[in-house]
Amino acid sequence: MSKRIDSWIQAKQRGEKRALITAYDYPFAQMADAAGLDGILVGDSLGMVVQGRADTLGVSLEQLAYHTEMVARACTRSLVFADLPLGSYEESPAQCWRSAVTLLRAGAEVIKWEGGLEFRAHLEFCAARGLNVCVHLGLTPQRLRQWGGFQRQGTSAAAAEKLEEEALTLADCGARFLLLEAVPAELAARISARSPIPVIGIGAGPDTDAQVLVLHDVLGLGKAPPFARAFVDGAALVGKGLADYAAAVRDGSFPAGGRTR
Ligand code: KIV
Repeated sequence: MSKRIDSWIQAKQRGEKRALITAYDYPFAQMADAAGLDGILVGDSLGMVVQGRADTLGVSLEQLAYHTEMVARACTRSLVFADLPLGSYEESPAQCWRSAVTLLRAGAEVIKWEGGLEFRAHLEFCAARGLNVCVHLGLTPQRLRQWGGFQRQGTSAAAAEKLEEEALTLADCGARFLLLEAVPAELAARISARSPIPVIGIGAGPDTDAQVLVLHDVLGLGKAPPFARAFVDGAALVGKGLADYAAAVRDGSFPAGGRTR
């Protein structure tokens, strides 16, 4: 196991929280790495926050690989996770492995996919070949159309029990990380306490081993889901910088006061 992954397990054992964020390009990955983020996820949220789509369904494996390369080039200490997009892994363990290898070659260290025991054979096949897999459970946005919208999961007692057993079985089958999205906080806390592998939460309360948020939500760029928090008003800052530049060009104060090369 790589030292970076090992350090996540040790952090869990010591009860230290870890912070993960998404990034899609070199400059933001470099800033996140330098800011001390423990992990960077090249998520298929790319489709929504970078490509301007309504959901993640149109993102391709080639696009994920392209963005993973940029992110991986920037990371010196953060662990690089990358998503397998819809259609790139479901068919068979062999298809899943081939797609994962594309992202490994692009620089990812952990490969994430959406779905649990329905992909047990995929997980066992990939784990046996040394792949570090993060399994994404709960709300899985790639199934948005089957569910008819973004809906919280594990809300009934029966669904919560099923999800908890599934999460623990997946850890036994070789998963290295679990990611729980939009599930009740008590359920996420129970799974985190019982799971031998780190549990990353998003919209899953405060008691998971780690938290992940989408970069643009943290930076206040665009409309964020209710569980996220903007730690800076990035839209206002960037908007002001751009408007000041345009105004300076128009009133002649730039480039007169600027440096020439
Ligand atoms: O695609 C993504 O960015 C994700 C996170 C929101 C967990 O899967």
